[in-house]
Amino acid sequence: MQPFVFHNPTQIIFGAGSVDRVGKTVARHGRTALLVYGRDSIHRSGLYSRVTSALQQAGVSWIDHGGVKSNPVLSHSRAGVDKAKASQVDLILAVGGGSVLDEAKAIAAGACYDGDLWDFFSDRATVQQALPLVTVLTLAATGSEMNSGGVITNEETQQKFNLSSPHLFPRVSILDPVLTWTVPADYTAYSAVDAISHLLEGYFTSPDPVTPLQDRFVEGLVKTIMESTEQILAQPAHAEARATMMWAATWALNGLSTAGIGAYQFPNHMIEHSLSALYDIAHGAGLAIVLPAWMAWQADQHPAKFARFAREVLGCQLSDDRQCALAAARGLKDWFGAIGSPVTLSEAGIPANDIPAIAANAVMLAQKWRMPAYSAEVIANILQRAA
Ligand code: NZQ
Ligand code: ZN
Repeated sequence: MQPFVFHNPTQIIFGAGSVDRVGKTVARHGRTALLVYGRDSIHRSGLYSRVTSALQQAGVSWIDHGGVKSNPVLSHSRAGVDKAKASQVDLILAVGGGSVLDEAKAIAAGACYDGDLWDFFSDRATVQQALPLVTVLTLAATGSEMNSGGVITNEETQQKFNLSSPHLFPRVSILDPVLTWTVPADYTAYSAVDAISHLLEGYFTSPDPVTPLQDRFVEGLVKTIMESTEQILAQPAHAEARATMMWAATWALNGLSTAGIGAYQFPNHMIEHSLSALYDIAHGAGLAIVLPAWMAWQADQHPAKFARFAREVLGCQLSDDRQCALAAARGLKDWFGAIGSPVTLSEAGIPANDIPAIAANAVMLAQKWRMPAYSAEVIANILQRAA
């Protein structure tokens, strides 16, 4: 067990019907909100009227900032900052999936800053202050509802970079699993891939070969996410499975599974962010392509942990560690494919000829995240396994 500091101040209000508490919850943090949301789903489901009626009843006024796209972009985030400043809102209310929450975090920080929003992502400035953020989550995947990070794509430079600050933990996140019943099968699959990837990044890159508490925590969560996803795909309104998936995805990236494992890395996310920056594919779909390829590449070098994963989670009975490690990469790839995600670049319509350009893009993030072992050659080598 390595030393760590764990501090997560987000209050979670969880359960069917909890969305109806949004009015009073927001009113505790201010009288005027910037209401950040996505494109169509909020209107199709009736959630927009449900949330705005609750705000009205609680005496909260709001300014709309809709139209956040999946893989949110800098220009739209800057427009949100302008609205927040012009209307002098007291807080940000985000209603949507990870993209909406991430753009809301960027706006919360940008509204309290005189310089350009991208400064936070390019490490030219650190967030000193942010508006309070309340979230209503509609898609369980990223963990943004209970963490301090956000990811935005700069369309001009084609960089998909993150910002992170203790000021950006949501004050309150409302997790009403019923809101996720309408998430379509493809995004249900991508969510599972994303949450599993969040858990496995730390699990596979921890400097300690065995961390008993965290290893079992991760293995249990991964098994639970796989089981719930299969139940949801068979029955989209499976109340218990949707609720289990929602809380599991939150736990997958709220800092608990990595506390005590030492200095870990996020190599699969580093590479995937280039796929979604360059081709605008869903983040989870990109991870389903990268993670099995990265695992196969790593399995040669450090088979023990991959073999453990294969045995504990996928039921591998092979006695040879290397064989079992390769079975882990294959097993996960097969499962990602079976739930409906692309698992190769070609299945996502990305030509193998683009691999050098993808690798050149990913190296920028490898440098930002201080991962010098990942040169363009290494990244290209990994991606060749995903062609
Ligand atoms: O725009 P609308 O019409 O709302 O449609 C959305 C969107 O098209 C739809 N959707 C959301 N809730 C729904 C729904 N459809 C039906 N019913 C509902 N209840 O789903 C689509 C995808 O939404 P999005 O928010 O993009 O998905 P997700 O939650 O997977 O977020 C992905 C973004 O989060 C970033 C990713 O890189 C990506 O940009 N990440 C954020 C992280 C963080 N802040 O900690 C960590 C992650 O690793 C990740 O990088
Ligand atoms: Zn992710």
